[in-house]
Amino acid sequence: MPRRLLVTAALPYANGPIHLGHLVEYLQTDIWVRFQKLMGNDCRYFCADDTHGTAIMLRARQEGRSEEDLIAQVQQEHEQDFADFGIEFDNYGSTNSPENREICAKIWTSLRDKGLVKEKQVSQLYDPEEGIFLADRFVRGTCPKCDAPDQPGDNCSSCGTTYSPVDLIDPKSTLSGATPEEGSALHLFIELEQLHSFLEEWTQKSGALQPEIANYLKGHFLGDALRDWDISRPSPYFGFEIPDYPGNYWYVWFDAPIGYMASTQQWCDRTGEKFDDWWRSTDCEVHHFIGKDITYFHTLFWPGMLKVAGYSLPTKVHIHGFLTVDGEKMSKSKGTFVRARSYLDHLDPAYLRYFYASKLSSKIDDIDLSLEEFITKVNTDLVGKVVNLASRSAKFVRKTGLSAEYPDDGGLFQQAAEAGEEIAAAYEACDYSRAMRLIMALADRANPYVEEAKPWELRKDEAQAERLQDVCTVALNLFRQLAIYLTPVLPQLAKQTGQLLGEPITRWSQAQTPLVGTPVNQFKHMLQRVEPKKVNAMIEDSKEETGEGAAAASESQESKSQEFVDKWNDPGDSLEAEPLADECTFDDFMKVDLRVARIVEAEQVPDARKLLRLKLSLGGGVYKQVFAGIKAAYDPEKLVGRQVVCVANLAPRKMKFGVSEGMVVASGPGGEEIFVLSPDEGAKVGQRVH
Ligand code: MSP
Ligand code: ZN
Repeated sequence: MPRRLLVTAALPYANGPIHLGHLVEYLQTDIWVRFQKLMGNDCRYFCADDTHGTAIMLRARQEGRSEEDLIAQVQQEHEQDFADFGIEFDNYGSTNSPENREICAKIWTSLRDKGLVKEKQVSQLYDPEEGIFLADRFVRGTCPKCDAPDQPGDNCSSCGTTYSPVDLIDPKSTLSGATPEEGSALHLFIELEQLHSFLEEWTQKSGALQPEIANYLKGHFLGDALRDWDISRPSPYFGFEIPDYPGNYWYVWFDAPIGYMASTQQWCDRTGEKFDDWWRSTDCEVHHFIGKDITYFHTLFWPGMLKVAGYSLPTKVHIHGFLTVDGEKMSKSKGTFVRARSYLDHLDPAYLRYFYASKLSSKIDDIDLSLEEFITKVNTDLVGKVVNLASRSAKFVRKTGLSAEYPDDGGLFQQAAEAGEEIAAAYEACDYSRAMRLIMALADRANPYVEEAKPWELRKDEAQAERLQDVCTVALNLFRQLAIYLTPVLPQLAKQTGQLLGEPITRWSQAQTPLVGTPVNQFKHMLQRVEPKKVNAMIEDSKEETGEGAAAASESQESKSQEFVDKWNDPGDSLEAEPLADECTFDDFMKVDLRVARIVEAEQVPDARKLLRLKLSLGGGVYKQVFAGIKAAYDPEKLVGRQVVCVANLAPRKMKFGVSEGMVVASGPGGEEIFVLSPDEGAKVGQRVH
């Protein structure tokens, strides 16, 4: 029985271009969907642009056009990028669609009817001219501490002080220039706590979540009462007006996941399928693919909404980690923040599809795009081991076609056929790196066969014509098996293979039977080697002059060696700003007991301007609570799981918000410029640092 599978990837925001980080997700999902389709399952891939919110509204204003105009253009670019990477959706919609508005209203009614919605007063700075409540980032003014003019609403870029926007001297709204007032507005909230026991059960027992995610939710959210979720925004806001609450709009995160359904609805309208067969049927599995940054929207709010409104709950939420390039966060000034389009200007999408596949597993670990590894891996595996099999044999059987019977190959074909099940299981489990390893192991067996048989020498001897045909029949069939197994990752290669051998690849099971007695078409080149200079050109093209990077970029004509020297010749302002402390003895130093710790919880402290509350594990069940002044620099979500260095024997200090039992070691002047230290990989929690 074929399975029915509804698959989604997160809806990309319409306020920016698709970049290589996004593509981790859209490719991961595309590979899974293509695999399922190849297995004969009825699998559909839905996505859409996420169009609502303040960011889009402000950008449209700035560009002097309507939001609709802006999102239409961005959507066209997104869709083109996806298509050119071979990402095939069954429907690509928009959250700003009539279908979405309608389903939002339905779900809203259910939430209202079940008594989950309540009104609360929220205080915020207000721009009287724009008539809009302002987030901190939309207020600027003079720093109350150092008098530096034109500083952002949350911290001073000159002296690093953090403050509240109301503390600024002469604050101004960045939108209108008006002086903001303190005001308050009524918002609607969803009382998620009413769903606590359901969410506890679903997150911990349904098997829908990876174990590390289930644990994270338990430790982080489900231990306490769930907070009410602020779901409305007052006008002006680009979104859907709440039907029974005029002048207020659904917060973008309310209508965004409903966009999965709206996209399905559009597809149903086009194909005659029934919506309820996909969203209200026990026969249909629902699979969401998302990045770790949006975990709680998809594992708490979303299942809660589905439950209340009576739709299918997600069968699985597959969560992936973040992309780093050469071990670091993508950076505009370094040119590692690469847009999908810039990549396509220089490189074949097949390279990235294969490289990501070789890195992805079912874990939430970040994945690293090391540019050197990218080049080596693609060239060694795809060109060296896979395509080579065909390019070294196809041309010799152009006239004769494949042998009428499959020759003795010492069991190679049979072995590879048997491996199919294990490879399929790896795809199914999203463990693509394992699938790629298994496939390359098959390639490693096929290649010696061709090298020993040497078709290029056999062809010189008329008497060996039959042997030549047999050898090429084996080589091409082994190649075809690899191409079938790689089809989800490399659809283009599968298509070329189908053309070469006169039979399109449409089913996984085709790898079980060799082709015999069929013609072989003209071999056309399949995949070129990656040229390092093209990778460099892509990075150069992606360099943007932002802040500090600007100075470096303007001097990019400098010679390579100069660049190298500069790299290590760090400017010494920090020592000047904070001169070295008095000398201390070794014994003095040893009084401070520094330990490797792991952050197991991190959260905002309501009303604290600078602080995050961290729970540190020192191993063996020993924990410490620490309030760290790193709020402006770190998103608490991203800290959880990270190893840090902590001052473990610091006398506890009672603070307004609780007791702080240690310190997390960090450098930097403060504000956004704080850098938490972490040990190298391999360090163990609890180890002493000296
Ligand atoms: N609009 C929301 C999702 C709404 S879903 C109902 C959003 N958009 S996004 O454009 O910021 O991100 C889209 C997806 O791409 C998210 O799942 C996100 O985790 C993923 N990624 C964005 N940057 C990424 C990396 N650098 N690395 C890996 N995935 C990343 O969030
Ligand atoms: Zn200042």
